[in-house]
Amino acid sequence: MDLDAFRRHGHAVVDLVADYLAGIEDRPVRAPVRPGEVDAALAGAAPETPDDVAAIMADFERVVMPGITHWQHPRFFAYFPANASPPSVLAEMLAAGIAAQCMLWQTSPAATEMESRVLDWLRDAIGLPEGFAGVIQDSASSATLVALVAARERALDGAGNAQGLAGHAPVTVYATAEAHSSIEKACRVAGIGSSGLRHVATDGAGRMRADDLAVKIAEDRAQGRHPAAVVATLGTTGIGAIDPLADIAAVARAEDVYLHVDAAWAGSALLLEEWRWMSAGVAAADSFVFNPHKWLGVQFDCAAHFVREPGVLTAALAIQPSYLTSRETGAVVDYRDWSIPLGRRFRALKLWFTLRAYGLAALRAMLRDHIAWTAELAGRIAAEPDFELTTPPSLALLTFRHLPAGVADLDADNRDLLERINADGFLYLTPHTHRGRAVLRWSIGGRTTTRRHVAESFERVKALARA
Ligand SMILES: Cc1ncc(COP(=O)(O)O)c(C=O)c1O
Repeated sequence: MDLDAFRRHGHAVVDLVADYLAGIEDRPVRAPVRPGEVDAALAGAAPETPDDVAAIMADFERVVMPGITHWQHPRFFAYFPANASPPSVLAEMLAAGIAAQCMLWQTSPAATEMESRVLDWLRDAIGLPEGFAGVIQDSASSATLVALVAARERALDGAGNAQGLAGHAPVTVYATAEAHSSIEKACRVAGIGSSGLRHVATDGAGRMRADDLAVKIAEDRAQGRHPAAVVATLGTTGIGAIDPLADIAAVARAEDVYLHVDAAWAGSALLLEEWRWMSAGVAAADSFVFNPHKWLGVQFDCAAHFVREPGVLTAALAIQPSYLTSRETGAVVDYRDWSIPLGRRFRALKLWFTLRAYGLAALRAMLRDHIAWTAELAGRIAAEPDFELTTPPSLALLTFRHLPAGVADLDADNRDLLERINADGFLYLTPHTHRGRAVLRWSIGGRTTTRRHVAESFERVKALARA
């Protein structure tokens, strides 16, 4: 493709994206295709000769778009949001265009220095103590994995990296059963294993019980195991439970166990003074992660990972081959030593664009709206005799259940309702099982969602439930 053609097609792509975003509300939120349908429309092999870009673009509309679930749709209430604000999309276009590979300071100094700076902005904006230093990981899962590797090596004095885990007493990690599956995955990948993950008891609201954490750590120590880390969650995925960080931090410090805080979704709400209570005790944490790609409008992928002592992370991850040594090695930050992959995209750019193009005040206003509309929705649900709020709003997340009179199998009824809601295409929700019961999970966080979208969506839920 010559540069004139690139320019022409590039303008057409920007127009296409702008038109897409302008008309997104008219599309079904969830892709209405069956498994295999997109595959059947794709060519069986790569072409030997060039395809016309106009034909590729036409196929994009014909084949790809029907198979897309629209995460930017204002009635997307499933999972957690993954917002891509227009400024962050512009930054991604620039990052793709300059195609910087940011593994070392030297391979793109601006990327490294901007990454440190915008993470300092973010750290200050969410009220983390100044000593924390940040790195952008691709996901909260990756941040948790590197945190657990660092914790493992701290507990084993580096012997795990040196000799492998065979021959050592088991390493143990502590989290609740409400914690995200990425914690267990990280335990598996880090060689700790699912059996090394201890489920700490929770209270009635799904929050970790610090007293049980202390008991479980003591039991493992008495058995000669190596308690390495506790993962506290601010905003669990299922119901938004907020673990009591200060109590957990006290146990972690007393036991000299690494404390990692998974605030993947709820961390954005720390921009709001009235939600800062969630992070009381964070000064004693070893690391903290949240995803600006969830609730802050920064195009996926962007996980802000803060560490209190970067040396603990780099001691576990850094290896210095000659081909990665530069004049500045040791005098600058080389982020390759802070994460699993060597190669790194220029992710700081989209954070920089987003924070500058909106400003913190607008982001705070958006968060407050979502939280307020969730409270309103909870009121609407509670007011209907054939619906039940199964967990109260936590920030912008709640769960609920349909309670039709005379139906014996409420779980089957709710699972069926969820399928019908999502097949309908008007809105999109996620199923969840809470205390053994099938519930519907509603998460508000779309950048373009308004109060109207929430209200009309609940009307649709009622209509579908009563049909
Ligand atoms: C609490 C929590 N932790 C971790 C994750 C994993 O996030 P990521 O997709 O960035 O790995 C999620 C995803 O929703 C989450 O809710």
